[in-house]
Amino acid sequence: MRPTQAPFPATRLRRLRSSDALRRLTRQTSLSVDDLIWPVFVRDGEGIEEPVSSMPGVLRRSVDLIGAAAREAQAMGIPAICIFPYTDPALKTELCEEAWNPDNLANRAIRAIKAAAPDIAVMTDIALDPYNALGHDGIVRDGIIVNDETVDALVKMALAQAEAGADLLGPSDMMDGRIAAMRGALETAGHTDVSILSYAAKYASAFYGPFRDAVGASGALKGDKKTYQMDPGNSDEALRLIERDLREGADMVMVKPGLAYLDICRRVKDTFGAPTYAYQVSGEYAMIEAAAQNGWIDGEKVMLESLMAFKRAGCDGILTYFAPRVAQLLQG
Ligand code: PBG
Repeated sequence: MRPTQAPFPATRLRRLRSSDALRRLTRQTSLSVDDLIWPVFVRDGEGIEEPVSSMPGVLRRSVDLIGAAAREAQAMGIPAICIFPYTDPALKTELCEEAWNPDNLANRAIRAIKAAAPDIAVMTDIALDPYNALGHDGIVRDGIIVNDETVDALVKMALAQAEAGADLLGPSDMMDGRIAAMRGALETAGHTDVSILSYAAKYASAFYGPFRDAVGASGALKGDKKTYQMDPGNSDEALRLIERDLREGADMVMVKPGLAYLDICRRVKDTFGAPTYAYQVSGEYAMIEAAAQNGWIDGEKVMLESLMAFKRAGCDGILTYFAPRVAQLLQG
């Protein structure tokens, strides 16, 4: 209910904007380092830090360097790091067996981070695309992305990640029934405290372009992901997906991409009150960086304003490639 306002001049809404002190005092939303999950790219080799060309400022690091990066993030107070592997094309197959290899790149990175920075939470991505010769998040048979066979593969992948020490599993595949299957398998295997942050409302978006370059999936992918990722025109369907995933055992839920889907974040938070995250995806990051590099916007200010928008829309946290830069700024 909106209280009736006294007429002008009793109500001068500018009064509370008149000084920095009053603006701080009346600010409803704040951004904190506690809100950040930092997505990182890992690759094979040793001593390698290579730039991702479509994401200025973002690196692919070899596993031996990922521990140090995590330790720095931990020292800056970032609560979680999320691993994405750039898999050697020679390891990609149509059945995606590398996805549940206990010694694959992602699982080695989990162990390296756990050893170097035991207090930072390690999040993973669960989808077959980095391991799939056909570039899709699921197994492809006769041109169709098959649901149930993919779920079986994803469960094996989830167990291998939990075994390696992951704290937060992030299914990003959009198959039906995967959360229940993973939760059941985790319980049976004794991983009762491994959390699931479901990419529950994930849209078939053009904003993922730079990411697919970063993990080397662009070349393999034929066609699009519209038979499993959501149609950008839909909003009610996001609520049905979130409700379903929470019921199946997800602990936290995500909306992805971020800035173009803030209405979805708000509806999800208002409807379920569950821990809600947004992913400020690669294309969003690239747009801000590109404009900033051209001197067209103040990159730092736009970065902070965009992240604040997620908080204002009801998100509890944000996956963002800006995480270390934000942490540094907030530390002053
Ligand atoms: C894999 C996955 C993708 C992203 C996160 N996990 C790409 C996709 O679905 O095609 C995108 C992240 C980003 O763009 O930053 N399923």
